[in-house]
Amino acid sequence: MAARVSSEPVTRPAVGDELELRVDSLAFGGAGVARLSGYVVFVDGAFPGDLVRARVHHRKRAYAQARATELLEPGPDRVPALADHPGAPWQELAYERQLEVKQSQVEEALRRIGHLDGFELSPIVPAVEQWRYRNKLEYSFAGAAGAGLRLGFHEPGSWEQIHHVEDCLLASEAGNRARNEVLEWCRAQQLEPFDRRARSGFLRNLVVREGRRTGQLQIRLITTPGELDSASLADAVNADSMLWTRTDALGETSAGGQTALLAGEPTIDEELGGLVLRISAEAFFQTNTEMAERLYALAREACDLHGWERVFDLFCGTGTIGLGLAGRAGHVDGLEIVESAVADAIANAERNDIANASFYAGDVRLAMRELRERAGRPDVVVVDPPRAGLSQKVVRRIIETAPRRIVYVSCNPTTLAPNAAQLAEAGWRLERVSAVDMFPQTPHIECVALLSR
Ligand SMILES: C[S@@+](CC[C@H](N)C(=O)[O-])C[C@H]1O[C@@H](n2cnc3c(N)ncnc32)[C@H](O)[C@@H]1O
Repeated sequence: MAARVSSEPVTRPAVGDELELRVDSLAFGGAGVARLSGYVVFVDGAFPGDLVRARVHHRKRAYAQARATELLEPGPDRVPALADHPGAPWQELAYERQLEVKQSQVEEALRRIGHLDGFELSPIVPAVEQWRYRNKLEYSFAGAAGAGLRLGFHEPGSWEQIHHVEDCLLASEAGNRARNEVLEWCRAQQLEPFDRRARSGFLRNLVVREGRRTGQLQIRLITTPGELDSASLADAVNADSMLWTRTDALGETSAGGQTALLAGEPTIDEELGGLVLRISAEAFFQTNTEMAERLYALAREACDLHGWERVFDLFCGTGTIGLGLAGRAGHVDGLEIVESAVADAIANAERNDIANASFYAGDVRLAMRELRERAGRPDVVVVDPPRAGLSQKVVRRIIETAPRRIVYVSCNPTTLAPNAAQLAEAGWRLERVSAVDMFPQTPHIECVALLSR
């Protein structure tokens, strides 16, 4: 392959080209950014200051994407890797630097994408645990029946290659033990991994979820339709909740399918912010319990409640945010699309003796007007949408409800920015933004923004 250096005149590289590139920054999503005479190349596996050899795998008019194949000269913030783990792509970047990058990416998104200014940016809250912080992990099966069966994570950018893990350093020891028990049992049973290309085989995924404060553990095995010796599995694996989901979905997903309880309880409990929370298998729950507590505390502070306010908790999941606000609010109304999560939220209100919170199943895109008619005008609206953020229509619906404060919990500053800009145009002022590091060793960013009028 041709080796080109960054000082050559602009010629767009071709797919398969090997380039020598000096990386100067990190982009949203975590790739290194290098320039070939102005033409941008995003380089996975490279950090600022690195000189790398990288192979181009995608090329567009304005940029190319490449993967580092050799580190020729390390940048100043490189540290040795601790784990051979596709889920920790930033582990070779010093933790302090990870925090700085995340903080500046929040600011950059708001200023450059949202054209917003004049807001206070609080210092990012560092993670309490830099490893073993996740309470949920989803693994994929691969290999062959018997001793050749593997269980781990997709290699970056690959739907086929699975990186086997023995000790996942993002999971607790208990979570690792449960995963390995399931793997050993599947090996002994000679079960075949699912082959997506051939559409044959049985074992698809394993989800291990933990209540970090309660010690409760749930495993959910996801397979194609077929037979399973559930009594033997229940004997082999030590878990408080054991579920089996059968699905013939084409793509790899742990959502949907038919789920049966094999042993124990259908849900597990977690403790957070003084609440005991029930979590169903299909319900979203923040994957870093410790840092979720800090995130929600910031959201609570931003709400600035005095005991009489009506609060909407949109995208409420199991009610975690709204239930934490109820003690200082007049009434909380939560809206969430996953029915089992809404059932959890209602149960969670009861078990924590919270009488001033109601939860409804519905799509925020369609149910906002009905919620407003049913519940009245909110004083404070909390939103916590998925990565795609809010559609312009949902932002318009929020504007119609005219709350005094909008507290936006975001897992993606690049979608928070246009949403905040639309709200700013409608009269709300972006006052304050605080980032929380929920996901050390990864480029993921979580933050809380306060808008008021
Ligand atoms: C980032 S999670 C936040 C959940 C919750 N606030 C928490 O902290 O645990 C986003 C939630 O939005 C829900 N969701 C996604 N799309 C939705 C929609 N169109 N309408 C209502 N809820 C939706 C998801 O099921 C998920 O529970």
